[in-house]
Amino acid sequence: MEINVVCGSLTEQPSDIVIVNLFKGVKSPGGATGAVDKALNGAISSLIADEEFEGNLGETAFFRVNGGLPVKKVLIVGLGSADGFGIPQVMRAAASAARKCRDLKAKKVTSILHGAGIAGLPAFECAKAVAEGAILGDYAYTRLKTENSGSNPIEYFTIVESDNNKIADIERGIARGVVVGESITWARDIINEPSNFVDPPHLAKIAEEIASEFGFECRIRDRKAIEDEGMGLVAAVSRGSAIEPRFIELKYSAPGAKKTVAIVGKGVTFDAGGYSLKNADGMYGMKDDMSGAAAVLAAMRAVGKLKPNVNVLMLAPAVENLIGSNAIHPGDVFKSYQGKTVEVANTDAEGRLILADAVAYAAKQGVDEIIDLATLTGACVVALGRQVSGVFATSDELADSLIKAGRNNGENLWRMPLYEDYRESLKSDVADIKNVGSRDGGAITGALFIRDFVGDKAWAHIDLASATIDKDIDLAKKGATGMGTGTLIEYLMSY
Ligand code: BES
Ligand code: ZN
Ligand code: ZN
Repeated sequence: MEINVVCGSLTEQPSDIVIVNLFKGVKSPGGATGAVDKALNGAISSLIADEEFEGNLGETAFFRVNGGLPVKKVLIVGLGSADGFGIPQVMRAAASAARKCRDLKAKKVTSILHGAGIAGLPAFECAKAVAEGAILGDYAYTRLKTENSGSNPIEYFTIVESDNNKIADIERGIARGVVVGESITWARDIINEPSNFVDPPHLAKIAEEIASEFGFECRIRDRKAIEDEGMGLVAAVSRGSAIEPRFIELKYSAPGAKKTVAIVGKGVTFDAGGYSLKNADGMYGMKDDMSGAAAVLAAMRAVGKLKPNVNVLMLAPAVENLIGSNAIHPGDVFKSYQGKTVEVANTDAEGRLILADAVAYAAKQGVDEIIDLATLTGACVVALGRQVSGVFATSDELADSLIKAGRNNGENLWRMPLYEDYRESLKSDVADIKNVGSRDGGAITGALFIRDFVGDKAWAHIDLASATIDKDIDLAKKGATGMGTGTLIEYLMSY
């Protein structure tokens, strides 16, 4: 989809569909929506009067146009109530409208800039949210469908703005929104892709491509290099699979940067659970267990384009967690990269094992902050559902910044406690620590396990409960959301 802005009147731009909007409770539309209504002799007002459209956030209604406007259809999208309206709502409205345009097979779309009119939000933020939302709403994973793919993506999306003074900000906003939106859908693509395509060597190849496109330092460790490096936990988890693990490392150096942030993503390309085997229902869908790795790779793609003022060390330990004659057994003990011995009480708690080695490696590189992202626990999904992810942190400032960074990119984060007393349950009879603690509060004990390996660095752990969703929402169709990508990009750009 190509997104641009033109200065002019929404009633004069030719297109397949023109998108206008309406707050809940408004009976006679104003602004550009009002102008469209007027050109159509009150067609929108009649729709409202007949109670066919309420203006709930993301609600859509459309009708055909026969004269009065140079368009085939008008699509109205609801903005919800004016109370509490902000950038997240702009993004949702834009996404919902784009989804509907795609369903209606519109190729050329013109749109009002939601939020910048009556609501008075900054044009840059609104344009970013509209561009990002349009890209997210228009997204569908269709690569493997050879029939009836329903693939009718929008080709041209034009924001029409009458105030010439806003155009430069809108252009900047679109440029940023396109990078973030396309990075998120890029992440969705590799998460939605089945595990017979996306395995650890495939993730490594993707990282190499990003490195060569943007000139990043890149180091890929194979099974032997992982063992030689002393990453005993990554090596252990990978033993059940004939497909080799990869420890993926990318480095971006910003000229004059004062800080280095490590972003670490769980890259389990399939999680069968190992000998603590998942049941059939629990196993289905476990191709998404590399969502953390996808988010950090996608963020690096954006880093290459946006060049933030901070150094970034990206790490993604990539493995398959399977069974086999060489697979590890419950109760086995391995030495971690950091030095602690770890009893693998449950082979299905593999994410925290590979992350423990990765965060310890990051800490040893002397980074200032470590942010890890992982589909770590089913417990976090139970706690927060699939539209909110949990953030655990040793630094209030880092946690607050991540929550704020997520909000304007449609990514919801909720702070969770590193409740100290639960650390007790990770004590092992035979080793320094074991990889499962109490089942109650399972997301907390999972986070506490990783914390043991970060040393004294400022650290945040995002448990990606919202990595995939089981039904369509405004910002994403059923499947991968790309959660974490937008948060990371916005956070890194805040430096
Ligand atoms: N990848 C799973 C966590 C998961 C499951 C995320 C379902 C999203 C949906 C992880 O490796 C895992 O299996 N965790 C176990 C931990 C337990 C054995 C302590 C879990 O959550 O059951
Ligand atoms: Zn698991
Ligand atoms: Zn897992």
